[in-house]
Amino acid sequence: MKGFQGPEIPPTLGNLPQWEAFRKAVSEAPCSGETLRILRAATLSLDLSAHPYSAEVRAAGEDLLQARAFTHARDALLAGEPVNQTEDRAAWHTMLRAPRPIPEVAREQQRVREFVAQADRDGRWRTIIHIGIGGSDWGVRLAVDACAGCGHRRELKFVANLDGHALQVALAGVDPHSALVVVTSKSFTTTETLTNLKRVMNWLSEAGVADPCRQVVAITARPESARKLGIAADHIFRFWDWVGGRYSIWSAVGLPVALTVGHEVVDGIRAGAADMDRHFAQAAPADNAPAQLALAGLGNRSVRGLGSLSIAAYDARLQYLAPYLQQLDMESLGKSVDMQGRPVDVPTGPSVWGMPGTDGQHTFFQWLHQGSEGAAVDFIVCRHADHQWPEEHAMLVANCLAQRQTLLRGTSLEADRAALLEQGMPAEKAEWLASHRVHQGGRPSTLIVLPKLTPHALGALLALYEHKVFVQALIWGINPFDQWGVEAGKKMANGILAELRSGAAASDHDPSTRHWISVFGQTP
Ligand code: F6P
Repeated sequence: MKGFQGPEIPPTLGNLPQWEAFRKAVSEAPCSGETLRILRAATLSLDLSAHPYSAEVRAAGEDLLQARAFTHARDALLAGEPVNQTEDRAAWHTMLRAPRPIPEVAREQQRVREFVAQADRDGRWRTIIHIGIGGSDWGVRLAVDACAGCGHRRELKFVANLDGHALQVALAGVDPHSALVVVTSKSFTTTETLTNLKRVMNWLSEAGVADPCRQVVAITARPESARKLGIAADHIFRFWDWVGGRYSIWSAVGLPVALTVGHEVVDGIRAGAADMDRHFAQAAPADNAPAQLALAGLGNRSVRGLGSLSIAAYDARLQYLAPYLQQLDMESLGKSVDMQGRPVDVPTGPSVWGMPGTDGQHTFFQWLHQGSEGAAVDFIVCRHADHQWPEEHAMLVANCLAQRQTLLRGTSLEADRAALLEQGMPAEKAEWLASHRVHQGGRPSTLIVLPKLTPHALGALLALYEHKVFVQALIWGINPFDQWGVEAGKKMANGILAELRSGAAASDHDPSTRHWISVFGQTP
């Protein structure tokens, strides 16, 4: 079966000469930050200076991209070809934000626009109750939080978790009669989402809402499933199988964003992403921001063995960027079998985690600076703030740049020891204490600078990461668009639920699972 890379069966990455050259170059290159490397794309600045870099790394990176037929694969992605080969479908999220989308996309965009405009004209819906999980949740949370300054037209409550406590919190204080339920689910089979939808429909009925379905909107790739639940056709907005859940914010999934902060935000993120798509499509490999970000990440993960990537967004409005990128990156790259079904012979997708800076400085930066391994860090900061204390934005920027440089350069044990001696500390104690205080340095990071946190900049940022993920998958030889790894757990949960309800644990469980099924299966 041919992979992305062309008709012939490609060698495994570890046996590719161009990979060995890249591996050698990166492992021998200094992570000194002495070469300024800044790429510009779709108004963003991407500073890759603090990664291992040399002329050999640059050349080997270009050769590696060519060996993996980067331009051919990229063009196939952007043209809507069936690049998702295990599910035999396209991954055409770029079409959702194209300036001239295909008719079915344009039609659905117009339906959303009209629905939102009508609701605004009528002043309908004080609260939106958004039910969805994963890719049917994180993008909406991120866009609404990041762009809250663009407008506040309605209250938006999120219900994702199956845990009833989450729903209790979301429904507290909400007037059922002025609430619109937006249920987002590509498959319309997700247990959490369907369970929460049933609970909310009951909540509406118990509050005296005559026809709860008229207060529900469904956003799904399975409109027929929503119809079967009694949701009217004019309240169903669709996207398509060729849109991955974690790539779906550009679709009708953006409807609750439009209802909350305005359709201009949806238009803006699409425009920013489209600009990044254009850059990705046209920039030469050496100047291609997603491709170069991908190569830097590959070097950190598969050559230097850094197991994780920390997202440090120095902007409190980006608190959901880390979980959004966690799903985008880890659900796409958390695989270890290549397109030919062979084990990938280098480490693949890192774990992705983080929180806004400077909160992270008081949470895990100790680990980043002095832990035995540390992590690569993506710092994200805006050139200009949108709050009324512009002089204090400099404080935030200073922290971001200082943390990044300290990770890169570390601190001097000799200088610290001399300072302690200068303070009169006995030599032996000064030596001992300095050894505890030294920062190793040589820890790589990326800096991404947005002009301001506008919808356009957010869209460009998310598209940058989408395309980075695609390029890393291409080089690792894995499929970034399927998620077979989520199925086994879901299936097992259904079986255990039946045993909990019957009180009889199947014999083929491990002893611990069997024990707890019997404990939890007893009547409360
Ligand atoms: O986590 C598995 C997954 O299928 C994600 O890919 C998806 O975003 C999420 O569950 C929700 O799926 P759906 O949108 O079909 O409810």
